[in-house]
Amino acid sequence: MATTLTISGQKGGIGKSTIAVNLAATLALYEKKVLLIDCDPRGCATEWIKGSNPGDRHDISSVLNKRVRSADAVVKTQLAWLDILPAGFGLFETGLKLSKTIPGQVVLRTLIEQDLTASYEYIIIDAPSSYGFLSVMALAASDWLIVPICPGMTSKADCLCLFRLINYIRKTHSTSLKIGGFVFNRCNSSDEIQIFLKDQNLTQIADLVCRTCIPEDIRVEKSIIQKTPLVLHDIKTAAGKSFLGLAKEIDLIFK
Ligand SMILES: Nc1ncnc2c1ncn2[C@@H]1O[C@H](COP(=O)(O)OP(=O)(O)OP(=O)(O)O)[C@@H](O)[C@H]1O
Ligand SMILES: [Mg+2]
Repeated sequence: MATTLTISGQKGGIGKSTIAVNLAATLALYEKKVLLIDCDPRGCATEWIKGSNPGDRHDISSVLNKRVRSADAVVKTQLAWLDILPAGFGLFETGLKLSKTIPGQVVLRTLIEQDLTASYEYIIIDAPSSYGFLSVMALAASDWLIVPICPGMTSKADCLCLFRLINYIRKTHSTSLKIGGFVFNRCNSSDEIQIFLKDQNLTQIADLVCRTCIPEDIRVEKSIIQKTPLVLHDIKTAAGKSFLGLAKEIDLIFK
């Protein structure tokens, strides 16, 4: 049975895809069998990790629409231990269609439970920003959330809204959705974390903050342009080393 982690947070641009792609790739470097599920119609994680290959006809929306089996849409990546279920703009229309029914919200959870969980140690879902259907579907698909926090971008109000959303999912779907960890991104030290928690009056979440933080690093952007996870592009960079630490920390929490 895989541990399914949704990387979520309703604030845009805080590093959800960056953490999803690099956490997935780093766990794969540690020889954990990982599936990355792209749940954003923009397909950022898909492009980053496998490039946009017009030869691949199927993606997550074909599977959710029951047009193809998941095995026909899951794609191998340059890392032997990492597969991806890609996304494209079709997921937007599929989301609109599925959103008309309450069971639509659990369609990804059902897919994972029936088809995917047995083949992987970790399933990592890159959730979109927003409070829309696709976010709810991604949150309802897993029991654990990893929440990026970007000092300077994230506020207490963002965290409070996320807690309300988690409560909604728990009540509506009777799941035990929990926060597995807050990961500070674009952050250089534990002092910066402490200052943020104090300033935002969020010290009550301190126990859930991962020790490893991801520093601001220009090579993150470069690795997106190269369409290669940072940990493959340049593992010796500051952020690359941090992802090695973060993956170890997460693996210790969940194994
Ligand atoms: N640690 C970092 N150092 C430098 N740049 C970073 C870092 N983390 C993220 N970025 C950059 O910030 C931008 C937004 O990151 P990312 O796409 O991961 O955020 P997101 O939360 O997934 O955004 P969205 O809400 O649009 O899905 C990207 O251009 C990424 O390269
Ligand atoms: Mg993203």
